[in-house]
Amino acid sequence: MLQINKITITQYKNYDFASFDFKERVIGICGLNGKGKTNLLDAIYYCCFTKSYFSKTDALSVQFDKDGFRLEAFFENDTEEQKLVCIHRGAGKKELLLNEVPYEKMSQHIGKFPAVMVAPDDIELITGGSEERRRFIDTVISQMDAEYLQQLIQYNKVLQQRNSLLKRFAEQGKTDWPLLEVLDEQLIVPGNFIYTKRKNFTADLIPLVQKFYNQIAANAEAVTLQYESQLNTGDFESVLNQYRQKDFMLQRSNGGVHKDDISMLLNDQSFKNTASQGQRKSLLFALKLAEFELLKTNKGFAPLLFLDDVFEKLDDNRMQHLLHWVCNENTGQVFITDTHKDRLEDAFKSLQVKYQVIEL
Ligand SMILES: Nc1ncnc2c1ncn2[C@@H]1O[C@H](COP(=O)(O)OP(=O)(O)OP(=O)(O)O)[C@@H](O)[C@H]1O
Ligand SMILES: [Mg+2]
Repeated sequence: MLQINKITITQYKNYDFASFDFKERVIGICGLNGKGKTNLLDAIYYCCFTKSYFSKTDALSVQFDKDGFRLEAFFENDTEEQKLVCIHRGAGKKELLLNEVPYEKMSQHIGKFPAVMVAPDDIELITGGSEERRRFIDTVISQMDAEYLQQLIQYNKVLQQRNSLLKRFAEQGKTDWPLLEVLDEQLIVPGNFIYTKRKNFTADLIPLVQKFYNQIAANAEAVTLQYESQLNTGDFESVLNQYRQKDFMLQRSNGGVHKDDISMLLNDQSFKNTASQGQRKSLLFALKLAEFELLKTNKGFAPLLFLDDVFEKLDDNRMQHLLHWVCNENTGQVFITDTHKDRLEDAFKSLQVKYQVIEL
């Protein structure tokens, strides 16, 4: 079992200097609005992903008026304790050390301590644009497959080059065909790799999402999900040919896996446009729990699970189903935040689990 035993936080968001010991598998984090519940989850998340879940840049995680932050965490996988240190020195400089050994690349750390976060704004995964769903897919596969992350980085690099080139063609009023062809070839290789991985991944993911949705909702609402990609109907080369005119016109690349999406239907209607808020939240949890299950199968142990403010989100029945799964059926370590200590403790007591509550 993977667990985190301790974290020491220095100059990260609202934490000037603080240390937390985690002694149980089920941990509640309580405190009023703005006390730092979400930030504590985020600090742990940072140690797993070398980036914040909530802030787009590292600079936003540095405490106001400070130059950098430091996170020190002790993880344990069965018997072995591992010490992770992350030092951000400002100006984009960052160091990551596992058991005192520095990583050469941050990406090498991804997947070592797998984790799943569920936070209120994640509802964007359902209601937002396709980039939200691609990011979701990418975050999960990257934790299971180091090569995927490398190919994704490569794809995005070439895509940017290709887009700048299309702009330049328009400015100069002429097209350097050989150069475009070179970039197309460089795009196709990682593009095909990404497509195949996403196709296999979604084939595993979708039945699990449906299973969890039905468990949470406990009824027969039919949710249908599908992996949408331009590559579903043609190979990458013909997709590029198909969009070439449009690319020249709009001066950016319109064909490729950067347009992928997962379509979602509720009883044959667009989920986004017809589902109730509770149904959307249920689907969000179903997606996250499916992510959790796939990671668990892949790693051979349960990832860490972070539930931020889930109590605000669901009716009592759905909440009960969810918490039972999270605390009783799940065997991994779970962190749950709430503004009401009593409500959280009552829930843990009725589930008859051992728990620890941290009050901020
Ligand atoms: N870079 C930063 N430096 C210092 N303080 C910060 C930084 N970023 C955020 N904060 C502060 O952290 C606090 C928010 O903490 P957090 O979001 O963890 O609260 P919370 O306990 O989750 O609250 P809620 O119950 O409303 O979700 C705010 O007061 C905010 O000003
Ligand atoms: Mg919060």
